[in-house]
Amino acid sequence: MSHPIDKALRERAARVIPGGMYGHQAVGALPNGYPQFFSRAEGPWLWDTDGNRLLDLMCAYGPQLFGYGNAKIDRAYVDQMAAGDAMTGPSPLIVELAEKIVSMIGHADWAMFCKNGSDATTMALMTARSHTGRNGVVRARGAYHGSQPWANPRPRGISPGDQANQHFCNYNDVASLETAVAAAGPDLAAIFAAPYRHDVFVDQTQPDAVYAKRARELADETGALLVVDDVRAGFRMARDCSWSVVGVEPDLSCWGKAIANGHPISALVGSDKARGAAEKIYATGSYWFAAAAMAASLTTLELIHSTDYLERIVALGERLRTGLDKRAQRHGFRLRQTGPAQMPLILFDDDQDMRLGYHWCSRMMAHGVYVHPWHNMFMSAAMTDVNVDFALEAAGESFRELEQAAPTLGPNERYPGPKRG
Ligand SMILES: Cc1ncc(COP(=O)(O)O)c(C=O)c1O
Repeated sequence: MSHPIDKALRERAARVIPGGMYGHQAVGALPNGYPQFFSRAEGPWLWDTDGNRLLDLMCAYGPQLFGYGNAKIDRAYVDQMAAGDAMTGPSPLIVELAEKIVSMIGHADWAMFCKNGSDATTMALMTARSHTGRNGVVRARGAYHGSQPWANPRPRGISPGDQANQHFCNYNDVASLETAVAAAGPDLAAIFAAPYRHDVFVDQTQPDAVYAKRARELADETGALLVVDDVRAGFRMARDCSWSVVGVEPDLSCWGKAIANGHPISALVGSDKARGAAEKIYATGSYWFAAAAMAASLTTLELIHSTDYLERIVALGERLRTGLDKRAQRHGFRLRQTGPAQMPLILFDDDQDMRLGYHWCSRMMAHGVYVHPWHNMFMSAAMTDVNVDFALEAAGESFRELEQAAPTLGPNERYPGPKRG
């Protein structure tokens, strides 16, 4: 697979875009052979600028729940674009969309809309502070809640004050949750929770019901609000808030990515308890009320409500997982496949600097499958068994090539994460 056009674009980008690219879609830390730019996408497929076709197991880092260019969703978007998008006031769709969300999410009595997941998590924090008149936050170490200064995972450009009043626990560890809540003391405003442990670089873990229930109790005992950050996992775990699977309802939940199948909209959703506090914060943005993404979201939510997409993506994920294990073993590799099957993370055992994982991903790319070496991936309802079998065929070939190359692989200079055991 060659990338002369991508290479030329990168050279141009390096002159006019800091670092050549930034954020989670920069491919500088990914294995060799990953294109940076894409021209087109359809269903489960991506085409890079050099015309190479790739089966995309990243789904745009989550938003593509029904695949690229879903006809119904995009029709709703385009029709509303023609009727009016960013106007001087919202369209009636904002009311319809809030009603739809309230009807679908167990704890929801209201919804507010914004653009990115980071907007929604920041509004959740502001609402919790507005509700309690306090500042403190408890959240799990390593959990991502967005790129705003309060949640940003990197130190550069962040002042200590931006991240003051935060207390960290270990995910699923009740004792450390209790310790962090105690450390926050009477200043606790919010307990933030990821739906499951979907941190980068490490094995994923399902939420423990005891931990989730204790988080609920601690919020109730202290008067803080419980927030589930469903931006990444939302509607891939359940047709409700993801913690419905462990029987816990938060006060607030944050949504983005999949709720409009890639069109730009996110949401903060809350229960009546938090309504008054949400009314009092100042939260807005020039594009937050634009109607086209709301039309796309309504159609996406209708598909979520009325189709078997969830059962299908789970079945596709399980087919992939079983098939990968078989093929890896045939070539002497042990995989650590964790997380829900429909949001798989694939790591190699005994792979300290991920040299095996990186080489395997490079080979997968060469065989036409976009996989990620250390971020969870996403199945979409546009995928079929035939697509999964295509990925498995590529995987078999890639394991075979890895087996040959493994003894000669040098240290992996590109892996940006912590040393692994
Ligand atoms: C759990 C979680 N919260 C918040 C965010 C931030 O969302 P956005 O990138 O849309 O601002 C993300 C993005 O990946 C996420 O995974």
